[in-house]
Amino acid sequence: THVVCKACFGCKHTDCVVVCPCDCFHEGDQMLYIDPDACIDCCACSSECPVEAIFIDDAVPADQLAFIQLNAEMVTQTPSITQKKKPLV
Ligand code: F3S
Repeated sequence: THVVCKACFGCKHTDCVVVCPCDCFHEGDQMLYIDPDACIDCCACSSECPVEAIFIDDAVPADQLAFIQLNAEMVTQTPSITQKKKPLV
């Protein structure tokens, strides 16, 4: 699966959501999350993100490994997002 990591926090550009073919993204207050059960590893989102916040799980930086579990947990508590919106910054 792909994972939204630290650079998304406080940012939420949302370029990622419009290219996702399986509507994997969920929106929290400060960042987005990817549903690991829905992601097919198409890799479309990671190159769209202007701040390079999205990694495939195997490539998540060592200091951001907690985001793997965070994404999995937060998608159960946050609404789906499929439309681009104004970023936080
Ligand atoms: Fe966040 Fe990048 Fe998407 S900043 S909302 S992961 S385009």
